[in-house]
Amino acid sequence: MNDTDKRLAALAAIEEVRAGMVVGLGTGSTAAFAIEALGERVRGGLTISAVATSLATEHHARAVGIRLIDLPAEIDLTIDGADEIDDDLRAIKGAGGAMLREKVVAAASKRMLVIADESKRVARIGAARIPVETLPFAQAFVAARLEKLGGTPVLRAGFATDQGNGILDCRFAADTDMAILAAEIDAIPGALGHGLFLAEVDAAYIAANGVVTRLERGTGTR
Ligand code: A5P
Repeated sequence: MNDTDKRLAALAAIEEVRAGMVVGLGTGSTAAFAIEALGERVRGGLTISAVATSLATEHHARAVGIRLIDLPAEIDLTIDGADEIDDDLRAIKGAGGAMLREKVVAAASKRMLVIADESKRVARIGAARIPVETLPFAQAFVAARLEKLGGTPVLRAGFATDQGNGILDCRFAADTDMAILAAEIDAIPGALGHGLFLAEVDAAYIAANGVVTRLERGTGTR
């Protein structure tokens, strides 16, 4: 992981932010660079409002002077990190535990950007554990269903999401069909959200050794 590259990816992505936009603010160390830089631009006169994907992001955004609003029906642009992303812009998110709100914000967004350093880019997503936010009442049931799907769920110890729920980090076989898996997890009562973002990401800014590459859905590298 490389902080210089994370920052460069963030700086490139915030160039898409325009005055008057409602911006979705992601969670994690890479998104933090975007929040920091956006705060600077806001203090320089840029007028935006923003929606935070976590309490941590909410605090950070406030601290740098970004005006926050409740989730509206539509967000113009969201900028978020990822744990893994492939060339088809399929991503795994949720190492920080914020993927449920991140998914809602992504779904509300006209455009979603992922920012990352090269360490997140993979040929095929699935090596990272897939986090599943779980209603505490339903934890044993959801874990059993995930096992039935071929997964190995492990409760994230001592962790509660911003919503007060637990997370089952779940490893699946490398050749798992992620689209089928996402639909199957979606169908488990008590599983409130998961880290598979298969269709949400419109573009990714990925920095490697100081050079930022933009991948755009459907058009490849630019
Ligand atoms: C938060 O739950 C995650 O989805 C993060 O966006 C993701 O883990 C990337 O975080 P980093 O930028 O800290 O690697």
